[in-house]
Amino acid sequence: MRLDRFLSNTGLLSRKEAAKAGKDGRITVNGEIVRRVDGHINEHTDVVCLDGEQIGYHQFDYVWLNKPTGYVSATEDGRLPCVTELLPPPLDKRGLFPCGRLDRDTVGLVLLTNDGQLSHTLLSPKKHVQKEYRFTCEPPLPVGAEEKFSAGMTIDGDERCKPALLVCDEGRAGGVITLTEGKYHQIKRMVEACGSRVITLERISFAGIPLDPALARGEIRAATEEEIERLRHATD
Ligand code: URA
Repeated sequence: MRLDRFLSNTGLLSRKEAAKAGKDGRITVNGEIVRRVDGHINEHTDVVCLDGEQIGYHQFDYVWLNKPTGYVSATEDGRLPCVTELLPPPLDKRGLFPCGRLDRDTVGLVLLTNDGQLSHTLLSPKKHVQKEYRFTCEPPLPVGAEEKFSAGMTIDGDERCKPALLVCDEGRAGGVITLTEGKYHQIKRMVEACGSRVITLERISFAGIPLDPALARGEIRAATEEEIERLRHATD
């Protein structure tokens, strides 16, 4: 890989800044100062340092966001703030995007990554990756709604949903719903099909990984190696 590309991929420097850092003698490869950054390096074996600090190479990033309300699950909107605006530097320059969509008023767990292949697999309805949501609704759900969910209901006339799990709280004005797909406004529409309306909605787990209780709304943290492995095997 070209050295300037390697440096810009880290998000630490743009290509232009990398060229300048090279000219200024701030970059070494295997201990030798390298002033021209258009040469090639082996990103897996060469030791690249910027200002004496070694730069580790990793191809992809995986981070968890506890999404607050008011943000759209996109990388660009033109009108409304996007979840990627919550990424701190240098992550904001590494091409991360949300893996799946939560509505603007939905809160909770979102995976942001630049690993297109894994994201695609995790979102495929064929892979049955589970997503759990805590909700409240008004009025309470009627008795029998659980069976409607588990049978796979039809919403808006002709849209067929896969079987889903509904566990109601006492009083039936909320509970937890588990889906293995992600249709537009799916939970809101399923709850409506049962004669109620969603008031609040929070994603509490993704692919079996729960929302970290230590992650405050609006906060980001890197996924652990163990969590990344779980994501990779979630579709086995
Ligand atoms: N279902 C919805 O209706 N909204 C979401 O944000 C997620 C699932």
